Amino acid sequence: KYKACLFDLDGVLVDTAIYHFKAWRALGQNFGYQLTEEQNEQLKGISRVESLDRILNWAGVQASEEDKSKWLIEKNEHYLELISQMNPNEILPGVSDFLDQIKKEGYLIALGSASKNAEIILNKTGLMHWFDAIIDGNKVTKSKPDPEVFLKGAEALGVSPAECIVFEDAVAGVEAAKTGGMKAVGIGEVSVLNQADKVISSFEGILSKDLLNFQ
Ligand code: BG6
Ligand code: MG
Repeated sequence: KYKACLFDLDGVLVDTAIYHFKAWRALGQNFGYQLTEEQNEQLKGISRVESLDRILNWAGVQASEEDKSKWLIEKNEHYLELISQMNPNEILPGVSDFLDQIKKEGYLIALGSASKNAEIILNKTGLMHWFDAIIDGNKVTKSKPDPEVFLKGAEALGVSPAECIVFEDAVAGVEAAKTGGMKAVGIGEVSVLNQADKVISSFEGILSKDLLNFQ
Protein backbone atom coordinates (compact mmCIF):
# COMPACT_ATOMS: atom_id res chain seq x y z
CA LYS A 1 0.00 0.00 0.00
CA TYR A 2 2.72 2.48 0.90
CA LYS A 3 5.31 3.10 -1.78
CA ALA A 4 7.31 6.12 -0.67
CA CYS A 5 9.00 7.67 2.34
CA LEU A 6 9.42 11.46 2.39
CA PHE A 7 11.93 12.88 4.84
CA ASP A 8 12.34 16.31 6.31
CA LEU A 9 16.06 17.12 6.63
CA ASP A 10 16.83 19.38 9.59
CA GLY A 11 16.08 17.59 12.86
CA VAL A 12 15.16 14.29 11.17
CA LEU A 13 18.25 13.17 9.24
CA VAL A 14 20.78 15.63 10.68
CA ASP A 15 20.83 18.01 13.61
CA THR A 16 21.41 21.44 12.13
CA ALA A 17 19.23 23.31 14.65
CA ILE A 18 22.34 24.25 16.62
CA TYR A 19 23.89 25.91 13.56
CA HIS A 20 20.69 27.81 12.72
CA PHE A 21 20.55 28.89 16.38
CA LYS A 22 24.14 30.14 16.41
CA ALA A 23 23.67 32.05 13.19
CA TRP A 24 20.34 33.65 14.17
CA ARG A 25 21.66 34.51 17.60
CA ALA A 26 24.70 36.23 16.15
CA LEU A 27 22.48 38.07 13.70
CA GLY A 28 20.31 39.37 16.53
CA GLN A 29 23.29 41.35 17.75
CA ASN A 30 22.68 43.74 14.83
CA PHE A 31 19.59 44.94 16.67
CA GLY A 32 20.57 44.09 20.24
CA TYR A 33 18.47 40.96 20.58
CA GLN A 34 19.30 37.63 22.26
CA LEU A 35 17.37 34.73 20.80
CA THR A 36 16.51 32.02 23.35
CA GLU A 37 16.55 28.25 22.80
CA GLU A 38 12.78 28.10 23.32
CA GLN A 39 12.30 30.59 20.53
CA ASN A 40 14.66 28.63 18.30
CA GLU A 41 12.31 25.65 18.76
CA GLN A 42 9.56 27.71 17.17
CA LEU A 43 11.71 28.35 14.10
CA LYS A 44 11.96 24.67 13.22
CA GLY A 45 10.54 23.92 9.79
CA ILE A 46 10.02 27.62 9.14
CA SER A 47 11.61 29.27 6.08
CA ARG A 48 14.52 31.69 6.35
CA VAL A 49 12.44 34.78 5.48
CA GLU A 50 9.67 33.83 7.89
CA SER A 51 12.18 33.08 10.64
CA LEU A 52 13.63 36.59 10.37
CA ASP A 53 10.15 38.10 10.48
CA ARG A 54 9.38 36.18 13.67
CA ILE A 55 12.65 37.22 15.30
CA LEU A 56 12.11 40.89 14.42
CA ASN A 57 8.61 40.59 15.80
CA TRP A 58 9.87 39.11 19.11
CA ALA A 59 12.50 41.84 19.27
CA GLY A 60 9.90 44.51 18.54
CA VAL A 61 12.03 45.81 15.68
CA GLN A 62 10.62 47.44 12.57
CA ALA A 63 13.18 46.99 9.82
CA SER A 64 13.40 48.29 6.27
CA GLU A 65 13.31 45.85 3.37
CA GLU A 66 16.94 46.76 2.73
CA ASP A 67 18.02 45.81 6.23
CA LYS A 68 16.02 42.61 6.04
CA SER A 69 17.65 41.45 2.81
CA LYS A 70 21.06 42.35 4.18
CA TRP A 71 20.41 40.36 7.36
CA LEU A 72 19.10 37.34 5.46
CA ILE A 73 22.35 37.23 3.50
CA GLU A 74 24.43 37.74 6.63
CA LYS A 75 22.63 34.94 8.50
CA ASN A 76 23.00 32.54 5.60
CA GLU A 77 26.68 33.31 5.07
CA HIS A 78 27.34 32.57 8.72
CA TYR A 79 25.22 29.39 8.53
CA LEU A 80 27.10 28.23 5.41
CA GLU A 81 30.38 28.75 7.25
CA LEU A 82 29.09 26.67 10.19
CA ILE A 83 27.83 23.79 8.02
CA SER A 84 30.94 23.76 5.83
CA GLN A 85 32.55 21.36 8.32
CA MET A 86 29.63 18.93 8.44
CA ASN A 87 30.47 15.26 7.85
CA PRO A 88 28.83 11.80 7.95
CA ASN A 89 29.23 11.67 11.74
CA GLU A 90 26.45 14.23 11.97
CA ILE A 91 23.83 11.90 10.53
CA LEU A 92 21.43 11.28 13.44
CA PRO A 93 21.56 7.87 15.19
CA GLY A 94 19.81 5.02 13.36
CA VAL A 95 19.11 7.06 10.22
CA SER A 96 21.52 5.27 7.84
CA ASP A 97 20.32 1.87 9.01
CA PHE A 98 16.68 2.86 8.58
CA LEU A 99 17.31 4.20 5.05
CA ASP A 100 19.08 0.95 4.28
CA GLN A 101 16.06 -1.08 5.42
CA ILE A 102 13.47 0.86 3.44
CA LYS A 103 15.63 0.91 0.32
CA LYS A 104 15.89 -2.87 0.46
CA GLU A 105 12.13 -3.11 0.97
CA GLY A 106 11.62 -1.17 -2.26
CA TYR A 107 10.32 2.14 -0.95
CA LEU A 108 11.03 5.24 -3.02
CA ILE A 109 12.77 7.95 -1.02
CA ALA A 110 12.38 11.73 -1.29
CA LEU A 111 13.47 14.79 0.63
CA GLY A 112 10.91 17.43 1.61
CA SER A 113 12.75 20.30 3.23
CA ALA A 114 12.22 24.05 3.64
CA SER A 115 15.97 24.60 3.45
CA LYS A 116 17.65 26.16 0.44
CA ASN A 117 20.90 24.59 1.65
CA ALA A 118 19.59 21.01 1.63
CA GLU A 119 21.79 19.72 -1.21
CA ILE A 120 24.95 21.07 0.40
CA ILE A 121 24.11 19.23 3.62
CA LEU A 122 23.19 15.98 1.82
CA ASN A 123 26.52 16.10 -0.02
CA LYS A 124 28.62 16.95 3.06
CA THR A 125 27.08 14.14 5.10
CA GLY A 126 27.07 11.58 2.28
CA LEU A 127 23.28 11.14 2.41
CA MET A 128 22.67 12.21 -1.18
CA HIS A 129 22.81 8.77 -2.78
CA TRP A 130 19.70 7.56 -0.95
CA PHE A 131 17.34 9.99 -2.63
CA ASP A 132 15.16 9.39 -5.69
CA ALA A 133 13.84 12.98 -5.56
CA ILE A 134 14.75 16.16 -3.74
CA ILE A 135 12.27 18.94 -3.05
CA ASP A 136 13.84 21.77 -1.07
CA GLY A 137 13.34 25.46 -0.33
CA ASN A 138 14.40 26.38 -3.86
CA LYS A 139 11.52 24.42 -5.36
CA VAL A 140 8.57 25.57 -3.28
CA THR A 141 6.66 28.82 -2.97
CA LYS A 142 4.67 27.98 0.17
CA SER A 143 6.17 27.04 3.54
CA LYS A 144 5.02 24.21 5.77
CA PRO A 145 2.30 23.78 7.11
CA ASP A 146 1.30 24.13 3.46
CA PRO A 147 1.60 20.61 1.96
CA GLU A 148 3.28 21.86 -1.27
CA VAL A 149 6.73 20.46 -0.49
CA PHE A 150 5.42 16.94 0.14
CA LEU A 151 2.88 16.98 -2.71
CA LYS A 152 5.71 17.92 -5.08
CA GLY A 153 7.77 15.10 -3.62
CA ALA A 154 4.99 12.57 -4.30
CA GLU A 155 4.60 13.94 -7.81
CA ALA A 156 8.33 13.70 -8.50
CA LEU A 157 8.28 10.06 -7.38
CA GLY A 158 5.16 9.31 -9.40
CA VAL A 159 3.09 8.15 -6.42
CA SER A 160 -0.14 9.39 -4.86
CA PRO A 161 -0.19 11.18 -1.49
CA ALA A 162 -2.06 8.23 0.04
CA GLU A 163 0.95 6.05 -0.78
CA CYS A 164 3.38 8.32 1.13
CA ILE A 165 4.75 8.31 4.65
CA VAL A 166 6.32 11.55 5.89
CA PHE A 167 8.99 11.80 8.62
CA GLU A 168 8.99 15.12 10.45
CA ASP A 169 10.28 16.72 13.65
CA ALA A 170 8.32 19.97 13.34
CA VAL A 171 4.67 20.60 14.19
CA ALA A 172 4.29 22.59 10.96
CA GLY A 173 5.74 19.66 9.00
CA VAL A 174 3.41 17.07 10.53
CA GLU A 175 0.50 19.38 9.73
CA ALA A 176 1.74 19.70 6.13
CA ALA A 177 1.83 15.91 5.75
CA LYS A 178 -1.65 15.42 7.18
CA THR A 179 -3.14 18.24 5.09
CA GLY A 180 -1.54 16.61 2.05
CA GLY A 181 -3.31 13.31 2.80
CA MET A 182 -0.20 11.40 3.89
CA LYS A 183 0.74 9.34 6.92
CA ALA A 184 3.03 11.19 9.32
CA VAL A 185 5.70 9.78 11.61
CA GLY A 186 6.86 12.34 14.16
CA ILE A 187 10.45 12.34 15.39
CA GLY A 188 10.41 13.86 18.85
CA GLU A 189 7.87 14.02 21.65
CA VAL A 190 4.29 12.75 21.53
CA SER A 191 3.09 15.75 23.56
CA VAL A 192 4.39 18.12 20.88
CA LEU A 193 3.75 16.08 17.72
CA ASN A 194 0.26 14.92 18.69
CA GLN A 195 -1.10 15.26 15.14
CA ALA A 196 1.26 12.54 13.87
CA ASP A 197 0.06 8.97 13.23
CA LYS A 198 3.05 7.61 15.15
CA VAL A 199 5.87 9.22 17.11
CA ILE A 200 9.37 7.89 17.74
CA SER A 201 12.07 9.64 19.74
CA SER A 202 14.77 8.71 17.21
CA PHE A 203 15.50 6.13 14.49
CA GLU A 204 17.82 4.22 16.76
CA GLY A 205 16.84 0.55 16.85
CA ILE A 206 13.75 1.14 14.71
CA LEU A 207 12.63 -1.69 12.43
CA SER A 208 10.77 -0.45 9.37
CA LYS A 209 8.47 -3.47 9.29
CA ASP A 210 7.21 -2.52 12.78
CA LEU A 211 7.05 1.23 12.23
CA LEU A 212 5.45 1.24 8.79
CA ASN A 213 2.67 -1.28 9.47
CA PHE A 214 -0.15 1.28 9.37
CA GLN A 215 -3.69 -0.12 9.26
C1 BG6 B 1 14.25 24.16 7.88
C2 BG6 B 1 14.76 24.46 9.27
O1 BG6 B 1 14.51 22.84 7.55
O2 BG6 B 1 14.87 25.02 6.93
C3 BG6 B 1 14.57 25.93 9.58
O3 BG6 B 1 14.08 23.66 10.21
C4 BG6 B 1 15.23 26.78 8.51
O4 BG6 B 1 15.12 26.21 10.85
C5 BG6 B 1 14.66 26.42 7.14
O5 BG6 B 1 15.01 28.16 8.75
C6 BG6 B 1 15.30 27.21 6.00
O6 BG6 B 1 16.64 26.87 5.90
P1 BG6 B 1 17.73 27.62 5.04
O7 BG6 B 1 18.88 26.66 5.04
O8 BG6 B 1 17.15 27.79 3.66
O9 BG6 B 1 18.01 28.91 5.68
MG1 MG C 1 12.84 19.70 10.62
